[in-house]
Amino acid sequence: MKTVAGAAGGFAKEFTCLRRGAGFGILAFILLVLLTGEVAWAQESAQSAEGDNGCLVCHGQEYLGSVEVDGAAQDLFVGPEAYEESAHGLLPCASCHIGFTHDNPHQMVTNAEFFAETAREACRNCHADQFEMYQQSYHGELSRGGVAGGVLAPGCTDCHGMHQVQRVDTLEYRQDIQQICGQCHGGRTDTFLDTYHGKAITLGREASATCVDCHGSHFILPTTNPMSTLSEANHLDTCQTCHPDADEGFTSFLVHIQPTSTDAPLIVFAVAIFYISMIVVVFAFGGIHTLLYIYRGLKNGLYFGKGGHH
Ligand code: HEC
Ligand code: HEC
Ligand code: HEC
Ligand code: HEC
Ligand code: HEC
Ligand code: HEC
Ligand code: HEC
Repeated sequence: MKTVAGAAGGFAKEFTCLRRGAGFGILAFILLVLLTGEVAWAQESAQSAEGDNGCLVCHGQEYLGSVEVDGAAQDLFVGPEAYEESAHGLLPCASCHIGFTHDNPHQMVTNAEFFAETAREACRNCHADQFEMYQQSYHGELSRGGVAGGVLAPGCTDCHGMHQVQRVDTLEYRQDIQQICGQCHGGRTDTFLDTYHGKAITLGREASATCVDCHGSHFILPTTNPMSTLSEANHLDTCQTCHPDADEGFTSFLVHIQPTSTDAPLIVFAVAIFYISMIVVVFAFGGIHTLLYIYRGLKNGLYFGKGGHH
């Protein structure tokens, strides 16, 4: 009996030892993984500090302050996280700031023309198609002072930002477009939001139309220009990309009109007033009906258990 118990005890002890051994083994393994992981991570961040975005060692600090550009302060801070999450998160800073290096002191050219030049040229090298279309658009023409001299025309960075450029293929981005254009075309955004498309996209219906589906994004032209997506010749085609069965009559649909304004064509105004009257009548009728119903319920004792039948 003793021997058996002893053997069993020995086995149990050995087993515990084994378990402990295994336990230590696992612990050591985890530590090793963590350590090597840590080392790899440290190496990675050292690399990125050296290579891609070494600029952020300085420009990622808010205390870097600002430079004065023709009397106005220009912030030198670039948010590292926002930059990393942007569509350009993997690009070295110098892909737009050509000639800047992180280990040399910069040659400082702090004037408005330097910044305007960066904003104009930074995107051209990699997005030549958009650049070309933009150049030929009404906004592009305006930006060169070609039309209505002196008005504020949007450049690439007014619509996309400079250090937080977002991907354009998300619902969130599509929902933002009305505000991006609305910075300068607020009235148009308001009337758009009053219509079916505007309400649908705001509610998350991604397939609905927003500004750029009708006007284009880079090759935007006045609707009177024959090459505009909304010129007389192209209007129907533009609607048909999403409404394949649309016919000529469809294009008379007013996309931007504010129906209750007195500027609206008389028929639109009349229809709007008719709808509003209908709503009032229907609600009034519904309200009276409900009151009568409650009155009857009270009379029959429906709410105080007198009748007890239905
Ligand atoms: C060692 C710190 C440091 C590093 C690294 C650094 N910068 Fe700067 N940068 C500055 C300071 C400081 C200024 C403002 C200088 C001044 O006030 O004269 C500045 C100014 C600038 C300006 C404004 C230029 C102007 O003429 O007004 C740009 C653009 C810029 N840096 C880009 C970069 C880029 C791109 C990198 C990486 C390739 C980089 N910087 C790396 C410290 C740094
Ligand atoms: C996609 C192009 C692009 C990339 C990539 C880019 N920048 Fe810029 N950056 C610009 C443009 C355009 C301007 C000028 C905007 C203006 O007119 O103020 C600018 C301006 C600046 C300025 C001047 C101050 C300011 O905020 O206007 C600093 C500093 C700067 N960038 C640093 C950086 C750093 C650091 C990185 C990398 C983390 C970086 N940039 C990456 C396009 C870029
Ligand atoms: C060095 C090349 C380079 C430069 C310079 C550059 N970009 Fe980009 N851009 C890229 C790359 C690469 C992508 C990512 C494309 C992808 O993921 O499909 C991108 C993505 C984008 C996107 C999102 C595209 C999408 O399909 O969602 C926009 C918008 C954009 N860039 C605008 C700009 C603007 C505005 C500038 C100038 C301020 C600029 N880019 C400068 C290379 C560049
Ligand atoms: C008036 C605002 C506006 C201006 C100016 C503008 N963009 Fe865009 N851009 C947009 C919008 C909105 C989208 C996405 C819309 C879409 O899906 O067509 C877009 C899309 C893009 C894309 C993604 C690919 C594509 O074509 O859909 C790139 C890259 C881009 N723009 C680069 C640029 C560059 C470079 C410039 C300057 C030459 C520029 N943009 C000027 C509004 C603008
Ligand atoms: C930074 C300001 C600004 C932004 C942002 C902007 N625009 Fe414009 N846009 C103008 C100016 C200025 C004009 C010329 C004056 C005018 O006609 O309103 C113009 C003209 C136009 C025209 C021709 C108007 C006409 O009267 O013939 C259309 C269409 C247009 N923009 C559409 C858009 C769309 C769509 C967007 C967004 C993708 C947009 N714009 C973003 C400033 C802007
Ligand atoms: C369903 C298509 C459609 C959508 C979406 C749309 N528009 Fe329009 N837009 C039109 C049509 C059609 C016209 C010409 C009739 C008019 O002036 O109302 C027009 C006219 C304009 C004009 C005047 C252009 C000119 O040449 O006179 C501007 C500016 C404009 N829209 C901006 C916007 C903005 C900003 C948005 C987004 C908030 C937007 N549009 C959304 C179809 C659209
Ligand atoms: C990017 C796609 C797109 C474009 C371009 C577009 N629409 Fe729409 N539109 C929609 C969607 C999606 C609906 C919602 C349909 C649904 O829910 O069944 C809608 C709904 C409508 C409605 C109200 C619902 C109905 O079917 O009667 C009208 C009217 C309308 N669009 C007119 C136009 C006109 C006019 C144009 C051209 C100037 C146009 N749309 C361009 C996507 C688009």
